Amino acid sequence: MAMAGSAIGLGNIWRFPYMAGEYGGAAFIVIYILCSFFLSLPIFFSEAVIGRRSRSNAIGAMKRLAPGSAWTVLGYLSVITPVIIVSYYSVVGGWSVDYLLKSFSLNFGQFVPTGPKVLLFNTVFLAVSAAIVALGVKGGIEKFSKFSIPLLFVLIVVILVYSVRMPGAGKGTEYLLRPDFSKVTPRTFAFALGQSFYSLSLGMGIIITYSSYVHKEENLMVSGVGTAVADLMFAILAGFAIMPAVFSAGIKPDAGPGLIFETLPFVFTRMGEASPLVGTAVAVMFFLTIIVAAMTSSISLLEVGVAYFVEEKKMKRPLACIVVFAIAWLLGLSSVFSQKAFGLTDAFSSNILLTVGALLVVLFVGWKMKKEDVRDEITDGGTRPGNGKLFPVVYFLIRYLAPVAVLVIFFSNFFL
Ligand code: PFF
Repeated sequence: MAMAGSAIGLGNIWRFPYMAGEYGGAAFIVIYILCSFFLSLPIFFSEAVIGRRSRSNAIGAMKRLAPGSAWTVLGYLSVITPVIIVSYYSVVGGWSVDYLLKSFSLNFGQFVPTGPKVLLFNTVFLAVSAAIVALGVKGGIEKFSKFSIPLLFVLIVVILVYSVRMPGAGKGTEYLLRPDFSKVTPRTFAFALGQSFYSLSLGMGIIITYSSYVHKEENLMVSGVGTAVADLMFAILAGFAIMPAVFSAGIKPDAGPGLIFETLPFVFTRMGEASPLVGTAVAVMFFLTIIVAAMTSSISLLEVGVAYFVEEKKMKRPLACIVVFAIAWLLGLSSVFSQKAFGLTDAFSSNILLTVGALLVVLFVGWKMKKEDVRDEITDGGTRPGNGKLFPVVYFLIRYLAPVAVLVIFFSNFFL
């Protein structure tokens, strides 16, 4: 549940629906599914192997599995990237808290993405996330995820049921589904793969850290497939919850902050003109969904650094949480006060740091670790013959296909 909580987040809500619509509808969705299962999932398994084998945070893992080597760079990168990401991710969390409050009066006004008020809400959001992490892996992260993931699915389904019944909603479903192969270009593959990385929280030490808490008896492959399926289902449900309502209001879809804080508030206001109660209820449910989805992801981003300070620097967990909170908060000031910094931080971390992290992870597991150790993890200590049969395929994907694919996306960010 915690892994699913990390995966399900803003990526599913503000990028996936738009990408699916713009890059070929059902054709994009099929490519996205293939990328998720054949490329992203092997990367997920690679991180999981590193985490569970070493039973350590990302930096400790490298120190234990490849002592005294340059691979520690991968560890440091994996701890630094999530702190950078959470610094802007929590700004969106802050906007969502503000918009949840505004939903009660359905008076959203102009979207103001920067400034002191944003700082206030961002601080609240980040502090609550850090407080949940401070309660511990079991008592905080897992407990919160166990109740919030089912809640997210219920909320998004309720919104979907309402959305698809709005007049003219069919155009939105058509936008998401009509296969348009003319829009399928090499860029489509690069975008689908990049999006599936981001969506599964890969390349930034999260799966390494979370897997270090997974018991040897647990089925690692099932956790991976379960996370990927839950993440995919949520992305598709979010698409059908959002786009029909957007098209029904006669507006163009958007991606990113524009969709959530400009387009959708307009839709909610229109709903409210017809029935204030319905408009308010849908808006409240929607922003609650965003907050909870963003919070389970922020928690996972914070935990990577916290695990490092607790395990390597022997800090008490609450103190480690305060330290990571403070670093993320300070870094976040740039995104709180400048939209340009917000965009640059997102682009730099999503396109560059994350791809480099993912590439190093698959190279490490595919080429540096002993094949028998990798097999041992994938088969949960040899106890799962079924996983053993799949191992050659998984290992081939990790060793050859995934590194090539990651390099392709990396360069396509610059040249396509
Ligand atoms: N996977 C989350 C999403 O799709 O929004 C975002 C995310 C979480 C990205 C954690 C990166 C990360 F490390």
